[in-house]
Amino acid sequence: MDQIVIKGGRPLRGEITIGGAKNAALPLMAASLLTDETLTLANLPHLVDITTMVHLLGELGVDVSMAGDAPNGGHAGRVLNLTARDEQGFTAPYDLVRKMRASVLVLGPLLARRGEAKVSLPGGCAIGTRPVDIHLDALSQMGAELDLEAGYIHARAPKGLKGAHVVFPAVSVGATENLLMAAALAEGETQLANAAREPEIGDLAQCLNAMGAKIEGIGTDVLRIQGVDRLHGATYSVIPDRIETGTYAAAAAITGGDLVLKNTRLDFIDSVIDVLAKAGVSITEEEDGIRVKRANNQLTGIDVSTEPYPGFPTDMQAQIMALMCVADGASLITETIFENRFMHVPELSRMGADITVHGSSAMVRGVPRLHGAELMATDLRASVSLVLAGLAAEGETRVNRVYHLDRGYERVEEKLAACGASIRRAEAQPAA
Ligand code: EPZ
Repeated sequence: MDQIVIKGGRPLRGEITIGGAKNAALPLMAASLLTDETLTLANLPHLVDITTMVHLLGELGVDVSMAGDAPNGGHAGRVLNLTARDEQGFTAPYDLVRKMRASVLVLGPLLARRGEAKVSLPGGCAIGTRPVDIHLDALSQMGAELDLEAGYIHARAPKGLKGAHVVFPAVSVGATENLLMAAALAEGETQLANAAREPEIGDLAQCLNAMGAKIEGIGTDVLRIQGVDRLHGATYSVIPDRIETGTYAAAAAITGGDLVLKNTRLDFIDSVIDVLAKAGVSITEEEDGIRVKRANNQLTGIDVSTEPYPGFPTDMQAQIMALMCVADGASLITETIFENRFMHVPELSRMGADITVHGSSAMVRGVPRLHGAELMATDLRASVSLVLAGLAAEGETRVNRVYHLDRGYERVEEKLAACGASIRRAEAQPAA
């Protein structure tokens, strides 16, 4: 297994190009199941999770091909054609679903288009049990017959799905996405109240409308969908990744550097900008992207609580915690979305961070410097918070199990090395 080796203490300077949003690309790819025509998706990131979704869709009879080369060579920003030619299959197998929880996003489209879906229960992951009860309750309100057998959800809608007025009991990104796709082909009108409002959901709704769906209320917490008989193909470009944007902004801040982030936007990370500005980070719009640097030479500790969009995103919690480890003063960081998303705390503590966890809150007391250490990545965002800490730490940091990182960050060591970081990928050392 690979590891990332970092020699810290170098301020990052230069430009980083932000990729397409992983959490928009995955549901958009699942939407290809809703039509037998070709869905062309552009600006796709080259990530392990995207490859996993390609494999899963392949199992479900979707032909996936690259349409020409990626604009910048390699694979970054590539264009894929997805065509659901063979519409017989309806099973998403455990060995793929266990690798990527977002596989559950094929449930809604399969049920809507093929009338049947057999999807392995995703199982938990490092950050929590990750149930899908909200998805299932809402689909059953649309007439789906659901059986749980041998770890699989077996859903049927032999007479098609019927529009319903669904009120989600809690805000769920995935459930909102599954129900949007299911409702697009249902009979009659569906209303989704207490819907999640993440920009990735707006991206999915815009793409579905480009495919002929009739969705209103995009960007609000009440979505109204008029079901149609069929959807057609479309060409759609994925929005930039707001979490990758926030992550590299934190990298500039923690190293005292000065970065320009290209191919991204400010308007969908207001809550992150607000928190970083309070911590003493200057973020300004430039003609070709956004510029991030420290406003002065000291970061200030601030309190942060994760919330559903437009609040501070849970996917940025680990990264802001790494930043607060070297800020002046204390920060109370509260995680309200997932029940176990502090796996980075013991690893940061091994670098000399001063963090005390009380239930869903962590009290971070800033220290003058972190010290490099051998660390273990546990989940996607925890991994990158350890890389950020390593960039600022004195000495050498080795982050193991970087396969977590590769699920959500494209060529992270190349992008950081190009801005002056001493960072490389290496074979993990055999345990001494
Ligand atoms: C999406 O996960 C993202 N993944 C996550 O990003 C992100 O952290 C999360 O939304 C919150 O923003 C993708 O988009 C592929 P939820 P999702 O349903 O849809 C509970 C990353 O790092 N819940 O909004 O699974 C759930 O356990 C990943 O890129 C139920 O109880 O999140 C959690 O506590 C990590 N029952 C909360 O709701 C359900 O049926 C929010 O989950 C569904 C969810």
